[in-house]
Amino acid sequence: MNNQPFKKNLAIVGATGAVGTAFIELLEEDDFFKDCTLSLFASSRSAGKKIPYRGKELTIIELTPDYHKDIDIAFFSAGSNISKEYAHYGAENGTVIIDNSSYFRLFDEVPLIVPEVNPEDVKKHKNIIANPNCSTIQMCVALKPLHDAYNIKRVIASTYQATSGAGNEGMEELMSQVEEYGKTKKDTFEFSKFSREILFNVIPQIDVFEENNYTKEEMKMNLETKKIMHIPDLLISSTCVRVPTMRSHGEAITIEFTNDIENDMTAIKDLLEKSAGIKVHRENKDFPTPKDCAKTHFTHIGRIRKDTAFEHGLSIWIVADQIYKGASLNAIQIAKLL
Ligand code: A2P
Repeated sequence: MNNQPFKKNLAIVGATGAVGTAFIELLEEDDFFKDCTLSLFASSRSAGKKIPYRGKELTIIELTPDYHKDIDIAFFSAGSNISKEYAHYGAENGTVIIDNSSYFRLFDEVPLIVPEVNPEDVKKHKNIIANPNCSTIQMCVALKPLHDAYNIKRVIASTYQATSGAGNEGMEELMSQVEEYGKTKKDTFEFSKFSREILFNVIPQIDVFEENNYTKEEMKMNLETKKIMHIPDLLISSTCVRVPTMRSHGEAITIEFTNDIENDMTAIKDLLEKSAGIKVHRENKDFPTPKDCAKTHFTHIGRIRKDTAFEHGLSIWIVADQIYKGASLNAIQIAKLL
């Protein structure tokens, strides 16, 4: 057991964004990082802004190619283009990049890590580690113990994803429509961040459409799950939907197993309950909702029932805070694995 204090120089790239802000909150409240320094980077628009941290004020620095000087670990959360352009400067000079964007996730040489699922893969890193898609992380946390016990053959998922999944601008678009409705009582709104009005609506499009008619978000869930779980032949289909919530994603998941799960939901609840990172909501009426789960660290699982469409099938409802477990918290847990 290594009892050395964790004394590293950390950086957040994209420190003013929805996920960047959560990184700061989580690093501040976690004593594990109390001996670390923290540097904050964002665009020139935010340079000079002051952010309170551990009793001091940190100044946002404009991101430039030399951001990595004296930095041991950099958490990137400023989108794929910034990761593509800037991550290599750090990685080539010994800084470990934990990247929250989708840019590196499917690169063969880049581990894609959910600490509860494939922590051993982190050893293969060459200074870049990818943090998976938010909807994928919470689903994999739930699938892992079930796969170990019963062997998963097929997964069908429908997601109910919060506006903050599209960053601060996503939440702002919902709030501006709420304010507009409060003033005018008219239920038609201008929109730009989402492809339709989000208030009083749900939108079955997250990210762009691909050639196979799935969206990019849906294909992230497909391809990333196979990589994280080491199940290349997994049969998996999802429909990803934006809903007018602020924070935490919900997912209705149906799983088909090759092994018999019998009818014993108590055994399944017990299995999930003793698995890392999971909180089981055992009673039907105790189902988790996005609002209840905001700012919690768990992947919450409720509505656990034998599925009626598949012989060896299970249906569950999963909720996790996608800004925490789906992004910043998962990345911080990866840093702890290092
Ligand atoms: P800034 O606030 O200065 O624009 P979100 O995901 O909530 O939209 O946040 C995106 C994050 O990425 C913000 O911190 C934003 O900083 C940062 N960002 C956007 N463009 C750049 C850029 N060109 N260089 C550095 N950071 C950027």
